[in-house]
Amino acid sequence: MRKILVTSALPYANGPIHIGHLVEYIQTDIWVRFQKMQGHQCYYCCADDTHGTPIMLRAEKEGLTPEALIDRVWHEHKADFDGFLVGFDNYYSTNTDETRHYAEDIYTKLRARGLIEERTIEQFFDPVKAMFLPDRFIKGECPKCHAKDQYGDSCEACGTTYQPTELIEPYSAVSGAAPERRESVHHFFTLGRCADFLHDWVKPPQVQPEAGNKLNEWLDSGLTDWDISRDAPYFGFEIPDAPGKYFYVWLDAPIGYMGSFRHLCEREGLDFDAFWDRQRAAEAGTELYHFVGKDILYFHALFWPAELEHSGYRTPTAVFAHGFLTVDGQKMSKSRGTFITASSYLKHLKPEYLRYYFAAKLGGGIEDIDLSLDDFVARVNSDLIGKYVNIASRSAGFLVKRFGGELVAVADQRIVQRVAQGADEIAAFYEAREYGKALRKIMALAAEVNGYTDEEKPWEMAKQEGRDAQLQLVCSVLINCFRLLTIYLKPVMPELAAGVAKFLNVDGFQWADGRTLLPAGHKINKYKHLATRIEPKQIEALLEDNKVNMEAADSGHSQARHAEKQQHEAEAATVVEPIMETIGIEDFNKIDLRVARIVDANPVQGADKLVQLTLDLGGEQRNVFAGIKPAYDPETLKGKLTVMAANLAPRKMRFGVSEGMVLAAGPGGQDLFILSPDEGAQPGMRVK
Ligand code: 2FM
Ligand code: ZN
Repeated sequence: MRKILVTSALPYANGPIHIGHLVEYIQTDIWVRFQKMQGHQCYYCCADDTHGTPIMLRAEKEGLTPEALIDRVWHEHKADFDGFLVGFDNYYSTNTDETRHYAEDIYTKLRARGLIEERTIEQFFDPVKAMFLPDRFIKGECPKCHAKDQYGDSCEACGTTYQPTELIEPYSAVSGAAPERRESVHHFFTLGRCADFLHDWVKPPQVQPEAGNKLNEWLDSGLTDWDISRDAPYFGFEIPDAPGKYFYVWLDAPIGYMGSFRHLCEREGLDFDAFWDRQRAAEAGTELYHFVGKDILYFHALFWPAELEHSGYRTPTAVFAHGFLTVDGQKMSKSRGTFITASSYLKHLKPEYLRYYFAAKLGGGIEDIDLSLDDFVARVNSDLIGKYVNIASRSAGFLVKRFGGELVAVADQRIVQRVAQGADEIAAFYEAREYGKALRKIMALAAEVNGYTDEEKPWEMAKQEGRDAQLQLVCSVLINCFRLLTIYLKPVMPELAAGVAKFLNVDGFQWADGRTLLPAGHKINKYKHLATRIEPKQIEALLEDNKVNMEAADSGHSQARHAEKQQHEAEAATVVEPIMETIGIEDFNKIDLRVARIVDANPVQGADKLVQLTLDLGGEQRNVFAGIKPAYDPETLKGKLTVMAANLAPRKMRFGVSEGMVLAAGPGGQDLFILSPDEGAQPGMRVK
């Protein structure tokens, strides 16, 4: 029996869970349920990530203490996870004694090893709010391409990353005030000194091959030391030997995994050290896995193992990264209603349908996955209901009505053997997180069973005299096949499997149950409806609901607008940018704006935010890199007309030369809107 501790990333306690988050929780939960079905000792721990400036400011805005805010959000998150059948063994919070204890412990040990250094840094300070400003709360002009209204860490127009102190004409996104530069002592974890260890650590099986490539790029370009402290006011843990200094939220977030597990150990009498102490864990052979989004790989596969290694704890057995979710090929969007919150989904549809669909799309890699709404409806209806549920509904009635629900022996039937033989291959797919392959195999077997049914035609046997024994055999075969398929599907659809267990009159399903069949003489219960088809109008209503949320949000009454991390930070920055100083028409005329047709649009390898555009200016073509990926799927841009600044000096970028700039409005991220001319405009026309 393996002893396994599994975590998912801790969601921030500043907004609701949405379907983008659920990819990870569902992915992890399926894996955990599969391990438990194998009879392994497997624990799944998570918590709310409660600290940091955004949460502090949010609480202030809502007139609450941060503690009251995080308590409310905890209950909301817990209800969402329960609703989606995410079976945490413990769902905790980082704002707890346990997490504080391990944060202080790790910090103290790193310090004793000489891996913590104090350095004076210069940082922006908001004189109105009397606080130092995190990078994302400062905006200003990009020092490179001079795009206005860029965040303090990177430019969404040209993709450059920089220090906030490099911004031109910076302003505070919290108060709008011009920030001052002030000095402050910060505590750094000297990650640079852990490079040798990390070079060794960052490879399969600890990280996936694609993740390893990315991590090695970072390692090769040199690791900078990590600033782990923040100045008061800050909602978090005060650093033991440094009054007025707090641990940065990202320092205590992964330590929250330990905190949550410690809490579980207290409750259930488990041995914490057997999972976390380096020596003890090695002796006990315990395993530790973190499921995370690819955007937080840096934290989990560099900072985190380095911290653990140098403070005497065990390092993760593996970090499993996954990609992002798109809906119908595009980023989730509030205006389209595809920014779907967990709670709104649950009002319209069964959680297991989304679990099934995500599973069907998930592999072991870090590619993004797409929720295509039409495909979602089609797959649930045709695979799940049409192929799988149908097997039971077509056979149970005859058995119960004609044979008192009693089964006959079927072990020698070829189709039963076929389905039983799938178990090992399917198990290997689950273990490797290749759920899409597992489900394809399961559905292929279900299709074979349906083929068998169509050949045998039990409905005709039922009408013919003297064929009772045959009818009972065929229906017993179908019920046994259905039971095996249910075992295979249980990690994905635990509630449905529980319903099937009742109907089949058995205690439940472990993976090993697939090695045996229901014996002759076993009696099943009357078939009760197990699942219904999705009607397209349910999807329409769901989207409508999320659009409504959006409108309500605009008047400031809903939490939905705060849902996403970046969104949330952008929200604090809704100060309208001041109108710039007056210029004459001669200045304006210097900018040659042209109507351009987007003839080609492609993502840029290695740049998450950039799209490479080929623009036609009525004869001349231009290559332009635009930071609009978070808001647009390149495919949807092809053929569109837009407006570009055509006489900007060409700019050399990491990926090539950008010969101009397309115009767009909005704060950035997914809230970016490219301009398009009214109908009739032609490529090359000047905009004046
Ligand atoms: O990116 C996020 O949403 C973070 N709250 C994840 C933290 S994961 C772990 F380190 F706690
Ligand atoms: Zn720029």
